[in-house]
Amino acid sequence: WPATAAVTGGRLVVGGCDTVALAEQFGTPLYLLDEATLREAMRAYRQSFAAAYPGPARVHYAGKALLNTALAQIVAQEGLGLDVVSATELLVARRAGVPMAHVHLHGNAKSDAELERAVAWRVGAIVVDNLDELARLRAITAQLAEPQGVLLRIAPAIEADTHAHIATGGEAAKFGLPLAALDEAVAQTLAAPGLRWLGLHAHIGSQLFALDQVVAAVDVLAAQAARLRERFGVMPVELSPGGGLGVPYTAEQPPADIARYAQVVSAALQAACARYDLPLPRLTVEPGRSIVARAGVALYRVVGRKGRRWLHIDGGMGDNIRPALYGARYSAVLANRAGEPASEPVAVGGRYCESGDVLLPEIALPPAQPGDLVAVATAGAYTLSMASNYNLVPRPAVVLVGDGQARLIQRRETEDDVLARDVML
Ligand code: LLP
Repeated sequence: WPATAAVTGGRLVVGGCDTVALAEQFGTPLYLLDEATLREAMRAYRQSFAAAYPGPARVHYAGKALLNTALAQIVAQEGLGLDVVSATELLVARRAGVPMAHVHLHGNAKSDAELERAVAWRVGAIVVDNLDELARLRAITAQLAEPQGVLLRIAPAIEADTHAHIATGGEAAKFGLPLAALDEAVAQTLAAPGLRWLGLHAHIGSQLFALDQVVAAVDVLAAQAARLRERFGVMPVELSPGGGLGVPYTAEQPPADIARYAQVVSAALQAACARYDLPLPRLTVEPGRSIVARAGVALYRVVGRKGRRWLHIDGGMGDNIRPALYGARYSAVLANRAGEPASEPVAVGGRYCESGDVLLPEIALPPAQPGDLVAVATAGAYTLSMASNYNLVPRPAVVLVGDGQARLIQRRETEDDVLARDVML
């Protein structure tokens, strides 16, 4: 739950706002973002890395976890950079005033149009994923007066201990240059007049609790930097071990300890640099989930009951596909009857026409009736950013809450929005 969550008069309050009143005002399903929790996580990252790492450190929010212009504005206000993975995410960064020098473009299949926009807008770095992309980027940047900064993403051959769908660092993974192709990529980058080689990047996966694989990735980055310095006589100025810090969705999981993460990553990089006799590079980390997940609360209306087992709600896999896709588990309460004793566990089924659309397969709630409000915790990350219009259902609104104020930062999709692209015969 967000840092500001409380129960007042049996009702869930977030950011000083009564969630029952918010559901009335804005409709459901509704996503709340608690501004204080967001800013707190961003500050924790910045301050923890500043305290733990003696060299320059940068924190980039990974926009794929959740992105809208207001959130990107908060990112800019808090002095974080932004990682984007599409032309439109890049546009949001620009609309929000995130300094382009602090924007990195990621992705394993960037189009020429995306690369061209990133180059034209002078992003701080394009994170090159493979040799094919590098060839296209060389052509696009051939005539540039000021070279474009480039990080090379490596596949460090580390299998992270997380769901297989979100482990990204294996040798045969979709992402990154296998180490066998790295020298070729560095040679081509150094030979390209339009490119400036900044350093190396790796991201081994998401929702990580054990940090030993992150430490291993940092070590691979530093070892490769040292080897490349020998081979090419050029020292990378930036190393980035990506994002990935896990967050608790249920009571059994440990809290996201940002300070400890910063200490572990910083210590690993310092130790590796000492071992390979490297100067301390700029350290860039890219957290997504651990910044935005906890700040998010999803509110759904109970539409009906079926027997003792099923509660039916007005949202589900269209706004949060994580239970269906990864078997993800969540915690929830009844927002309008918080604190009432729970009866035997029920299953909360989504509204979408698929048996797998079960948002909460087994959750203890007070005996719920149609009209009650289910509030799902830790709902900020990889929910709306992965939302769809399955069954032609409009996507929810997003409200930023703080100090008793609620601001609509993304309006609910309308039926006209959903049908806007349809062309009649
Ligand atoms: N950097 C890169 C290159 C990434 O690919 C990712 C996440 C991040 C940073 C941020 O990782 P985070 O700190 O959020 O763990 N949809 C999945 C998660 C996909 C993660 C994709 N990449 C889920 O819902 O669990």
